[in-house]
Amino acid sequence: MSEHFRVCGGARLTGEVQVVGAKNSVLKLMAAALLAEGTTTLTNCPEILDVPLMGDVLRGLGCDVQVAGSQVSITAPAELKHEADYGSVSKLRASVCVLGPLVGRCRRAKVALPGGDAIGSRPLDMHQNGLRKLGARSEIEHGCVVAEAEGLHGAQIWLDFPSVGATENILMAAVLAEGTTVIDNAAREPEIVDLCVMLQQMGAHICGAGTSTLTIEGVDALAPTEHLVIGDRIVGATWAFAAAMTQGDVTVRGVNPHHLDLVLEKLRLAGAHVDQSGAGDGFRLVMPGRPTAVDFVTLPYPGFATDLQPMAIALSAIAEGTSMITENVFEARFRFVEEMIRLGADARTDGHHAVVRGIERLSSAPVWACDIRAGAGLVLAGLCAEGTTDVWDVFHIDRGYPRFLENLTTLGADVQRVTAPPER
Ligand code: UD1
Repeated sequence: MSEHFRVCGGARLTGEVQVVGAKNSVLKLMAAALLAEGTTTLTNCPEILDVPLMGDVLRGLGCDVQVAGSQVSITAPAELKHEADYGSVSKLRASVCVLGPLVGRCRRAKVALPGGDAIGSRPLDMHQNGLRKLGARSEIEHGCVVAEAEGLHGAQIWLDFPSVGATENILMAAVLAEGTTVIDNAAREPEIVDLCVMLQQMGAHICGAGTSTLTIEGVDALAPTEHLVIGDRIVGATWAFAAAMTQGDVTVRGVNPHHLDLVLEKLRLAGAHVDQSGAGDGFRLVMPGRPTAVDFVTLPYPGFATDLQPMAIALSAIAEGTSMITENVFEARFRFVEEMIRLGADARTDGHHAVVRGIERLSSAPVWACDIRAGAGLVLAGLCAEGTTDVWDVFHIDRGYPRFLENLTTLGADVQRVTAPPER
């Protein structure tokens, strides 16, 4: 049996929705707990499948992990195991972020490679090169990334691309290296800032969080801490797109609106009225009519997030006019366009670009989610389709969107979770 979402198109979304902690933050913060012996507690954690999966990875390394609603407590022992096995890592690509903390704390790590991903190739060369600069030997051996160091020393590291994962892994090793590390062309995502804040609370010395140069002064040891996970800007933006596409009126709480400055500006250009002046933890978006076509270019933060590319395509599909969407981060994300074409979208791709000519209404069809964000994008498209759209493989959506269906229903959407034999 398989689960799908049955989305009945036509509703105008209205009301308020609360966003909780960011998936792309909490998983790294859980890994960072490895850096200090004792109990680290995270609050505002999203109740999504990836959190207990990451818990399993940490248990395999010798930690005690307690997940109770939105609170996660991780007790790291004095002696960590340094091998993360394929069984747990294969279920969660992000678990590769234990590499840096293990090298930092144990001076060695062996982490199975989970293999390819639906959004494109995800090599680890920048992670490995950074660790090598810090003094570790790192190779891919028998399907695992292995790193070992006699001692770690500070270094000057230039990243070819501001990779989120490489910045995080190098940072988490460097906080326990001897001397000063400078990471240039570092990623600037709010989730990196969140990680830096937690590491600083643990006793790390880091300057430049949120800029492209991170300077880290290594310390001998870190202490456990308590930390509140930042709100999920990708989930918040998903609700903004849902409101814009359904000509709705939605207030989004629990997310810093400045993390969405560019996204909300794009939606303003598409015709939305956006009020970001609230209490600083959200925004209200009102869409008075059919969206106007705008162009989108994905880039590392503060550029338009690649994770929101499916939402940009879904909006363009029903906008007035033609949009050009350029993907610069993950090449295979355009697989989503094939599913949109099933819904009647007038879209074509050519290399890094997609051209979408907006039509007034999509037409329902069975569609398949190939990753978390594509799944959410298809549900949004289903809301604007005539008839009932079945979105299959919703386990992807469950990995990234807590209480997605409940939130949609509260906003007035007609969506159900159905268990049925798989359609293909
Ligand atoms: C993270 C996010 C993901 C988001 C992405 C970009 C998590 C769990 N996932 O993924 O949702 O879409 O950031 O914002 O936080 N690359 C290399 N070599 C490397 C590392 C990366 O070539 O060693 C390339 C990748 O193939 C990709 C680009 O760099 O083309 C960006 O990847 P990266 O920023 O590392 O993404 P992730 O950390 O994997």
